Amino acid sequence: MRWAAQWGVFMSLELIPHLHPGNNTVVAFFSLYPLLFCCTLHPFALPPLLAMALEAIQQTLLNPFGQISLATVLLVIIVLTYFTLSFTELETARKLFKASNTVYTFAWNCFLKPHTGDGSGNQQDALESFYKSQASIYDATRSKLLDGRENMLGLVAAQVKHQAQTGQLSRKPIWVDVGGGTGWNIEQMGQYLPVQDFFHAVYLVDLSTSLCEVAKARFERLGWKNVRVVCQDARKFRLSDYEAGVDDEKAIFSIGQSAYDEHESGDKVLADVLTMSYSLSMIPEFHPVVDSMASLLGPNGIMGVVDFYVQSQVDFQSRNYTGGVIDRHCMWISRVFWRTWFEMDRVSLEPARRDYLEYKFGTILSTNARNHFFGFRIPYYIWIGCAKQTRSSLSNLHAVDAAVTESPFISALDLQAKQSQSGRRSSFELRSKAYDTALVNLSASLPLPSAWYQQHHWRVYYDEQLQKHKQFGDEYIYAFTWEDSRADARILKITNDDVILAITSAGDNILSYALEKPKRIHAVDLNPNQNHLLELKVAAFTALSYSDTWKLFGEGKHEDFRKLLINDLSPHLSTQALDYWLHKGPAAFDAKGKGLYYTGGSRHALNLVKWVGWVLGVSADLKRLCNTGTLAEQREIWSKRVRRVVLSQLLAYTVIGSERFLWKALGVPRAQREMIEADHASTNDKVESASTASTSTGRGIKSGQAIWEYCVNTLDPVANDTLVSEDNHYYLLCLQARYTQRCHPAYLAPKAHIKLSQPNAFDGLRIHTDELAEVFARMTPGTLTIAVLMDSMDWFDPEGKEAAQQIRAVNRALKVGGRVLLRSAGLKPWYVRQFETLGFVGKRVAARIPPGTCIDR
Ligand SMILES: C[S@@+](CC[C@H](N)C(=O)[O-])C[C@H]1O[C@@H](n2cnc3c(N)ncnc32)[C@H](O)[C@@H]1O
Repeated sequence: MRWAAQWGVFMSLELIPHLHPGNNTVVAFFSLYPLLFCCTLHPFALPPLLAMALEAIQQTLLNPFGQISLATVLLVIIVLTYFTLSFTELETARKLFKASNTVYTFAWNCFLKPHTGDGSGNQQDALESFYKSQASIYDATRSKLLDGRENMLGLVAAQVKHQAQTGQLSRKPIWVDVGGGTGWNIEQMGQYLPVQDFFHAVYLVDLSTSLCEVAKARFERLGWKNVRVVCQDARKFRLSDYEAGVDDEKAIFSIGQSAYDEHESGDKVLADVLTMSYSLSMIPEFHPVVDSMASLLGPNGIMGVVDFYVQSQVDFQSRNYTGGVIDRHCMWISRVFWRTWFEMDRVSLEPARRDYLEYKFGTILSTNARNHFFGFRIPYYIWIGCAKQTRSSLSNLHAVDAAVTESPFISALDLQAKQSQSGRRSSFELRSKAYDTALVNLSASLPLPSAWYQQHHWRVYYDEQLQKHKQFGDEYIYAFTWEDSRADARILKITNDDVILAITSAGDNILSYALEKPKRIHAVDLNPNQNHLLELKVAAFTALSYSDTWKLFGEGKHEDFRKLLINDLSPHLSTQALDYWLHKGPAAFDAKGKGLYYTGGSRHALNLVKWVGWVLGVSADLKRLCNTGTLAEQREIWSKRVRRVVLSQLLAYTVIGSERFLWKALGVPRAQREMIEADHASTNDKVESASTASTSTGRGIKSGQAIWEYCVNTLDPVANDTLVSEDNHYYLLCLQARYTQRCHPAYLAPKAHIKLSQPNAFDGLRIHTDELAEVFARMTPGTLTIAVLMDSMDWFDPEGKEAAQQIRAVNRALKVGGRVLLRSAGLKPWYVRQFETLGFVGKRVAARIPPGTCIDR
């Protein structure tokens, strides 16, 4: 039956490619049909197959040619075995035998052996029938299958360590590993934390007696006295039975007790850490076990789960509290196949288990992955959570909201505790989207969005499933910021009283502003991936040494990115950022790869520089440009070797002038390109007739010329006046995809690291994933002192209303005397006049004219 069912599913997998992908009903019918067929007919189907095989062997043996072939094959096998054995040492042979025996036992127990022992409905019998004969080889055979256990433990350890470092633990924590099996996880935790010293007590709860025996032997061998193995049904386990100090009357087991229930028994013994690795899917009734976990977890406790799952996006796409959806959706064939397959081992992959877990707790971090098991990719998730109502989530609600909207309430942040108790703000005050969403969730008894459960409140909640965010896919455009932060500093002269709003981009300028310690920085970007990059940088300053930070963002490579991410950075990242970097980071920072700066849309610009250098034979000159010691030397290389190639008109007309390249690689949208074209036309006094401009060839040439002129006016002064090797890290990065210790952004200096790694360095940072207009609209009037809009207004349509709307919104949010700093590709941006009519005074502080003038580096 088991074989027949498995073959049925394999056959259905075979059928899929031949069927129309859109017609799910037809596909489902054809794929399930062989399964049903084999399941019902297998007692009759197998014997004819066997008979056919036996007949074929008989035919072969009767035929003389067949006899000779068979004898030859046998001889070859004997000779090969003889030689292999004579060259193999006894020890190796023994190991080989042991390994094959292990594989055989695993395969027999997991895939072939019929399960018994559940006739009585007793789960322990059922478990024993599965585990008894394989308890001794359990650990050796689960490393690949039960992937993600180390990562889950690492993430839990990082959270608990952070709690310990920040004084959130008042005593040594208690850890309960539910369905802990052989105790492998607890020993493994030793890689991250000194288990014996760190925990007051560790409980392994498991219902399988044979696995518990292995666990007991393990902790005896290790000599870990604070670990206790409890052979019991997890649904009935209560800590109060084992931890002294609580009298029986008060230690009431409270199945189903809501995490929102404020009146829970005050001195019940609660766990500080709970883990379940691949056990939730194995416990038949999951509601009681999840309920009892919710009652067992302390108000500040951390829970970690890793398990198999399958799920369709239909289930989760309208939820805002699941914390990260990358790769969560599984294809229908994967859903059907893995559920059916695992059911045979009494492992249930129905989505409701994970859903209920997410409903009963708050989600701190969540990620989805696929393991690689003999060529198959089995979906699993890692989830780190906490009680729905943590000590900090609700009490912080008002304070965090106030910081996002710059409410007057913020001026009394020091009195936060007092004010959040009263929770009253005047009716005209603006609320953040995060706050509004939290209220909706609370009224529906749902957990808060995961942003509320984070260790830091830097990243403001946003709905990642909105199309306006999903349009960017999983790519940021800018891996580095292109606007010169030194020019900003010179113009803005930031003080401690400033409240700045700026576009995130790659976050480099946000870090430069943070060095000046303003009161608050609101970093805004519509592309969530740009904000993930900023978060990674902020987390690096918070948790890493200078040398690791330098490797990540100076060199763009790190030999152990995943380890850093799990062990050090994870408590400082939002779930979306962690999920993103778990998926993208190892490749982006791969020490053998091209590095961070060859990621994102801006990699196309770096590729172009490399390609031009190679095709036109100036690679060596570009390299020399990065190492010259004097401006004179640089000018010579530029004017004699590089300029004629890089500023070739052909290149501008064919590549740089192309709309696609400008947008994809340089983030230049059509409206901005048109501004460059308009400047070109007006300076050359060559306004073309509308009919000529509208033909595609005419447009291409015009655009190419305009872009060429723009490049000349930009690059010539840079090459002549700024020393790339020492003082222009913007161009240095484009040429060699990394910074040097001599030339890098201000935030990568050792002194900057000292400042930015101070415990409260980013307390004033709020990262918004939204349109600028949306953020301005929710900002309390008259609170911003500086708004840095980069070139975002170039993107608006001059005929549209957005520019005027945005200008009005900025004006409303700014304090009297507040400043807006903007950059434009245009010489006289059309919207400056609108600023002036709407209450601003405009001043151009730099321009690329007259030719030869440098706007900035
Ligand atoms: C796949 S194993 C995972 C073991 C271990 N956590 C690991 O990662 O290696 C699932 C475990 O859940 C345990 N289990 C299943 N139902 C249980 C229950 N009702 N109470 C306690 N343990 C249970 C099984 O005995 C088994 O050890």
